[in-house]
Amino acid sequence: MAWRVILSVLFLISSNLQGGAAGAPQVPCYFIYGDSLCDSGNNNDLVTDAKANYPPYGVDFPEGATGRFTNGRTFADFIAELLGFDEYIPPFATANGSDILRGVNYASGGAGIRDETGQQLGGRISLNHQLQNHLITILRIREMLGADAETYLNKCAYTIWMGSNDYLNNYLMPDIYPTSTLYTPEEYADVLIEQYEQQLKTLYSYGARRLAIFGLSEIGCAPAEVAEYGTNGSLCVDEIDDLVLPFNDRLKPLIKELNSNLTGAEFVYVNTYGVTTNAVPGQKG
Ligand SMILES: *[C@@H]1O[C@H](CO)[C@@H](O)[C@H](O)[C@H]1NC(C)=O
Ligand SMILES: *[C@@H]1O[C@H](CO)[C@@H](O)[C@H](O)[C@H]1NC(C)=O
Ligand SMILES: *[C@@H]1O[C@H](CO)[C@@H](O)[C@H](O)[C@H]1NC(C)=O
Repeated sequence: MAWRVILSVLFLISSNLQGGAAGAPQVPCYFIYGDSLCDSGNNNDLVTDAKANYPPYGVDFPEGATGRFTNGRTFADFIAELLGFDEYIPPFATANGSDILRGVNYASGGAGIRDETGQQLGGRISLNHQLQNHLITILRIREMLGADAETYLNKCAYTIWMGSNDYLNNYLMPDIYPTSTLYTPEEYADVLIEQYEQQLKTLYSYGARRLAIFGLSEIGCAPAEVAEYGTNGSLCVDEIDDLVLPFNDRLKPLIKELNSNLTGAEFVYVNTYGVTTNAVPGQKG
């Protein structure tokens, strides 16, 4: 588990806050967007190969196999704990009642920035769909809080970690997806970032201000890629690792620009490249 990443996220999303009451979380709510690295059960009732609600997933998790794509806690779980929440943020699939005031986890294994990403796995909730689900949550929060809903949503912490599957379960599967014949790696990064920009602006328009955006890590270290391509003695498939660098290179300046253009935005880039080799997703994305 890459503590440096988690601690930097916490620092970035909570450093400007005044200390809350003892024992109270540092923020009232935490919303999570992403893929299998953060999913906590949203795929359980989907018809999909991207499922993790059976052992050995969850063997080291108190509630057992919940749909988390890991033996224990996800990045989002660690962040929630360190923010001071005494329960994990509920997945959208089962969050109900006033639970949603603590935040909602929309992450879905296999999902991508692009809608078609991961379709060979079956059901998954793309980022666009995750944003639609967030709109449903917002309407429910408005019913509960009325006119205070907007300022409440401004105070929440938000994290988003998307894009790995747009490579692993799209660009790197030329038999199924045309993207690698349509675009060079540089062009593909442009196309992804253009779409991501719109999605981040949508999130801002829905009230997100303190948003940590994760860059991509060495997806070439994912077990499925190592098995398929071989590494020639290195730990990871270097050609694939290099593939995500143009994405990160474009994401960093985009976030700077969004901060200067969008009033009140405190978006931060979280570097995961070179620090999370043991936290990449398996073949199920
Ligand atoms: C919320 O969901 C939980 C678990 O799915 C269930 O036990 C509980 O009764 C539900 N509460 C409401 C208010 O629907
Ligand atoms: C594997 O590594 C060796 C030594 O670095 C290099 O000579 C060889 O070309 C590499 N093979 C492939 C297929 O990359
Ligand atoms: C920020 O604003 C400038 C000036 O209006 C504009 O040219 C640029 O495209 C904007 N950037 C983003 C990411 O919206």
